[in-house]
Amino acid sequence: MILVTGATGNVGREVVNLLVDDGQEVVALTRNPAAAELPGGAHVVGGDPSRPQTLISALSGVEAVLISPRALGDATAGAATAKLLALAAEQGAERVVALSAVTVQYAAGYRRFADTFKAVEDAVKASGLRWTFLRSADYAANALAWAPQIRSVSVVRGAYGDAATSTIHERDVAAVAAKALVNPKHAGHAYVLTGPHSLTQREKVRLIGEAIGKELSFEELPPERLRQAMLAQGLPEDVPDRLLGSLADYARQPGPSSNTMEQVLNRPALTFAEWAAEHAAAFRN
Ligand SMILES: NC(=O)c1ccc[n+]([C@@H]2O[C@H](COP(=O)([O-])OP(=O)(O)OC[C@H]3O[C@@H](n4cnc5c(N)ncnc54)[C@H](OP(=O)(O)O)[C@@H]3O)[C@@H](O)[C@H]2O)c1
Repeated sequence: MILVTGATGNVGREVVNLLVDDGQEVVALTRNPAAAELPGGAHVVGGDPSRPQTLISALSGVEAVLISPRALGDATAGAATAKLLALAAEQGAERVVALSAVTVQYAAGYRRFADTFKAVEDAVKASGLRWTFLRSADYAANALAWAPQIRSVSVVRGAYGDAATSTIHERDVAAVAAKALVNPKHAGHAYVLTGPHSLTQREKVRLIGEAIGKELSFEELPPERLRQAMLAQGLPEDVPDRLLGSLADYARQPGPSSNTMEQVLNRPALTFAEWAAEHAAAFRN
């Protein structure tokens, strides 16, 4: 049995789908089972993984655990991961796969965000379970934040339009996670997961435009103005910090690219254009 934290998230939902399709028994954790809309083949369990002591009954018979740091409380995810894995190990768990980020290995953005992932990785290593880390580039799903502007004015107003990253399709992260949760041969690997091409923000906006058959543009704003606009929308302070800190660095030097998908999945990584075509409805009026 495999326990998936963050099961309703961008990656977790795809992991649950893949594992169920593969015939695996899955315990899918969510704080709100009524709204989860997870596949019928999964055991959907209500619980908060940032409070691991409440999850003991869900851990019975679990062989492998997927750690999604957001679901374990981000800033406090290291400590929650340590507790959850200690309980899982007591129940006989053997493997753990942690969703992490390239910034752990290729510094970019504010150090405190990398430290969150590092704390999770450290807790995972200390657990004694066989571990796999998935150090991903930025997820394509982050581009959904542009959808309201694209739908209303066909313009993305942002900072650092030339910042370039090899954005990854979240289904690719999930595909590697599903393999590592099931197959012990991935133990001991810290995989750097990226998309196939380094793309600037402007290029990503153009590719979304191609997917919806509309000319879109990127309008450069001073970073501080964007930050103030995000705070005025009521976003928590760490959202602009997380975004602008890393974009500033990726404007100076593009984020990393890897060929891990070919190695692990025997196929190329999915492209941003493919992601945009799949998600075109979100960007159309
Ligand atoms: N976005 C990126 O570019 C990127 C890159 C590298 C790594 N990552 C990391 O990869 C992990 C998975 O990303 P994802 O996009 O799949 O995650 P997500 O969709 O943002 O969140 C996963 C789940 O966590 C729970 N959750 C969300 N916000 C929460 C909060 N404030 N407190 C407690 N629980 C919360 C929700 O589950 P329920 O409501 O069902 O409980 C949600 O479905 C995250 O830890 C993320 O930091 C992201």
